[in-house]
Amino acid sequence: MSIRINPSILAADFVNMESALHSISSADLVHVDVMDNHFVPNLTFGPGMVGRIQDVSPIPLDVHLMIDAPERWAPGYAELGAFSVTFHAEATSDPVAVARRLRQIGSRAGLALKPGTDAEPYLELLDEFDQILVMTVEPGFGGQKFMPETMPKLRLLAETAARTGADLWLQVDGGITEDTIGIAAEAGANTFVAGSSVFAAENPALQIDTLRRTAMSHAHDHTSNR
Ligand code: DX5
Ligand code: ZN
Repeated sequence: MSIRINPSILAADFVNMESALHSISSADLVHVDVMDNHFVPNLTFGPGMVGRIQDVSPIPLDVHLMIDAPERWAPGYAELGAFSVTFHAEATSDPVAVARRLRQIGSRAGLALKPGTDAEPYLELLDEFDQILVMTVEPGFGGQKFMPETMPKLRLLAETAARTGADLWLQVDGGITEDTIGIAAEAGANTFVAGSSVFAAENPALQIDTLRRTAMSHAHDHTSNR
């Protein structure tokens, strides 16, 4: 099965972003956290910065929007050329409309669920999305502790996707390290965001490799649909 490792540049040095991006070129995608200080109590950057990251990154962009009103702002990130744009279910009343617009522009559409948000209301809509992001911490900050209580939700999504044949990437984000990535892989994740564990490492490329090998050794065949 394919495993994707997406380092989060939230943990990188924002002033040396170009070299940070080159240090993770062996990863699959670069995870780009956009925060608006409304949906989450933290602020990062917007389309200007993401556009420059898109210009210089050696690998495609996995944009994670932690912002209000994604129906208004998400399409702009797809237009910048992001490979994938993920927005939060809690931030919009019509996630399907947002996803359809993103796909129409040409990006993959992702739906993110906070730890307290149930997956059930979205199970019948899985075909509308290319990725479901199960947050394994409360969104807003890097360096938090992995929440294992989110794993039943991941398992439910993995089982539903396998049963219905939905072509879905299941992503986890928050507290992913060599100690927790196996738990998420066993529960059915195939796409892993890691911020501090990659950028705090002396050798990010080596850490990406360690995470990938650890995830692969814990991955279940039944969770694979790619
Ligand atoms: C948190 C962000 C994450 C963050 C993860 O709200 O969505 O992408 O960078 O950081 P770590 O891996 O340090 O928990
Ligand atoms: Zn994120």
